[in-house]
Amino acid sequence: MIFANLEQLPPDPILGVTAAFRADPSPDKTDLGVGVYRDDRGETPVPAAVRDAERAMLAEQRTKTYVGPAGNPEFNQRIVELALGPLAAELRERTATIQTVGGCGALRLGAELIRASRPEAVVHVSDPTWANHEPLLGTSGLSLARYPYYDPATRGVAFEAMRDHFARLPVGSVVLLHACCHNPTGADLAPDEWRSLGDVIESRGLVPFVDLAYQGFGDDVEADVFGLRHLAARVPQFLLALSCSKNFGLYRERTGALAIVAGSPAVAGAIATHQARTARRMYSMPPDHGAAVAARLLGNPALRASWLGELGGMVARMKALRSLLAGRLAARRPEVDFSWLTRHRGMFSLTGLAATAIAELRERHHVYLPPDGRINLAGVSDDNVDRVADSLVAVMG
Ligand code: LMR
Repeated sequence: MIFANLEQLPPDPILGVTAAFRADPSPDKTDLGVGVYRDDRGETPVPAAVRDAERAMLAEQRTKTYVGPAGNPEFNQRIVELALGPLAAELRERTATIQTVGGCGALRLGAELIRASRPEAVVHVSDPTWANHEPLLGTSGLSLARYPYYDPATRGVAFEAMRDHFARLPVGSVVLLHACCHNPTGADLAPDEWRSLGDVIESRGLVPFVDLAYQGFGDDVEADVFGLRHLAARVPQFLLALSCSKNFGLYRERTGALAIVAGSPAVAGAIATHQARTARRMYSMPPDHGAAVAARLLGNPALRASWLGELGGMVARMKALRSLLAGRLAARRPEVDFSWLTRHRGMFSLTGLAATAIAELRERHHVYLPPDGRINLAGVSDDNVDRVADSLVAVMG
């Protein structure tokens, strides 16, 4: 019997937390798991500008016929402009962009293209990294390795170890970098560290593969891409995985893009043909809806301003929640330093809790975290912050 040999798999480390949370009948349960933004009512809003763009787009849409293998060209151009700013125009001739099935699709497609071009390439990812990075990239058949990134003692970036490691990597190694809001640690590189890393990447001829899943979630859409733009101005070639899930609230619409900046326009032209063929052989074409909405929003100054305003409100809320939780924890354990919570950026920080503590949080306190001990600050609210602080302190030891 076909499939009879397949065994039941364990739950996904992140999506499995959502399933377990939903199955918990407790009225006092708290989901600090999957990385979705939540407002003070615990809801994940669709930004007003996204809804307006969506309404206008649907009112005008007369056909659902295929768009094309690379997806929506206006979206591809505008989303790369949002990421790269004025550099996008400078690099346009050397850039091949394809709309993808979310940021995950961009990561996987990028890995497939690296594998097709250089099967022996090794992709180096941060230690730790997002739980799905290694499965997504590694399933392409590429070899993976880890570089030092996070120092649990300081709860910051182990920058010297990272830079020294990069300086020893073989020429041509691919390095996967989180542009901002590092997932899962929340610890980002400072501008000077990006500059210093850029020197090493350039001198070693490393190939950056930048994952930009949280533009606008750290400080703002410009500050969050400082490192990316710095690298883009310096290195001759890089890959960029873009996601509209969080910043546009388009999660389920699976909206993203893969931009590859190549050494020459001719190589970029060839890459574009490979992007289209590889996608065609896996899933043919990307879904249109989210990209059509994002393209319309980005092309309309009023909608764009409204969206940036709403995004600014989300960031302010996440920063406020960081301070709130840090304060409540410090009130309970004054001898412990919780200031790292306010130093981190984006939705995540690593609690450093052991597996037994994470299990106890779930079973005794109905607080849900992924197995790596990551906490999603957006799951905290005025209503649950004391319960969350009490629970964390109870399992901290
Ligand atoms: C997360 O890290 O929780 C999000 O990126 C959602 C996901 O797909 O894992």
